[in-house]
Amino acid sequence: MSKQLRVFASATVANVSCGFDVLGFAIDQPGDEITVRMREEPGVVIKSITGDEGRLPLDPEKNTAGVSIKKYLEHIGFDRGVEIELYKGIPIGSGLGSSATSAVAGVFGVNALLGKPLKREELLPFAREGERVASGTAHADNIAPSLLGGFTLIRSYDPLDVVKLKTPAQLYCSVVLPELEVQTKMAREILQDQIPLDKAVVQWGNLAGFIAGLTTSDYDLLGRSLQDVIIEPERSKLIPGFEAVKQAALAAGALGCGISGSGPSLFALTIDKKTAGKVGEAMKTAFLRKQIRSKVYISGINQQGPVILS
Ligand code: HSE
Repeated sequence: MSKQLRVFASATVANVSCGFDVLGFAIDQPGDEITVRMREEPGVVIKSITGDEGRLPLDPEKNTAGVSIKKYLEHIGFDRGVEIELYKGIPIGSGLGSSATSAVAGVFGVNALLGKPLKREELLPFAREGERVASGTAHADNIAPSLLGGFTLIRSYDPLDVVKLKTPAQLYCSVVLPELEVQTKMAREILQDQIPLDKAVVQWGNLAGFIAGLTTSDYDLLGRSLQDVIIEPERSKLIPGFEAVKQAALAAGALGCGISGSGPSLFALTIDKKTAGKVGEAMKTAFLRKQIRSKVYISGINQQGPVILS
């Protein structure tokens, strides 16, 4: 059993337009790194957090990684403790699953440190507890792809039933993160809790279409299915320039484009890396026209989930 491990876990795009709270996928970058080490005394100690501009709590009861690891240690009945050092590569409030990634990196790292008493998919409920602390709900659509890699579907929350989906070989993703911040908690509070039947029909048609498109590598079907008639009309109001950026992505060759998670990042899917680069630049330029600077990430769909670096 090693005494210390360093783990990298990557960011995720949740919702993917048509699958609010149930669909997500992992990208290669950005990501968070965590060092986990054993200590003789029980409990979780967060020794340091960097890359967060001092904004995240060191109190393990309030920190997404701290809470997840604590729940995990209680579950397996570990009588000693762990110390962690967290490096945040994912900006907070970016829509890239920042809180979920830290939780995933934490439980994945500690489970590996302790000789893997639980299987990877068994770590999901603990990482969800971290998400509950961060955003008020234990949604799993960022946690699942960050932990398992690829595209994942939350078929059911109660009981939790997570399905890993196929990824078509050519798929690429462009993510543009504007210099804005949206807190998930607030972006959930603005949503209506009733959905008109006609909109629900459109949405579940698109979700089913998207999943069929993944399974059959039908890129046109994927593009047609990247539509959100329920959440996007509400949340896009929080992102100045949203419509112009989306149109720029489509004009540059994206299959489809939408809000990543609760925003403000936008994602676009393309069928190759070169187009993904062009789409990313087009989105960045469209934001700049609104005087908003942004950062572009071009990535394949990350299949491996968290990795042990050392
Ligand atoms: N499904 C969640 C939401 C993802 O849209 O609120 C947030 O990261």
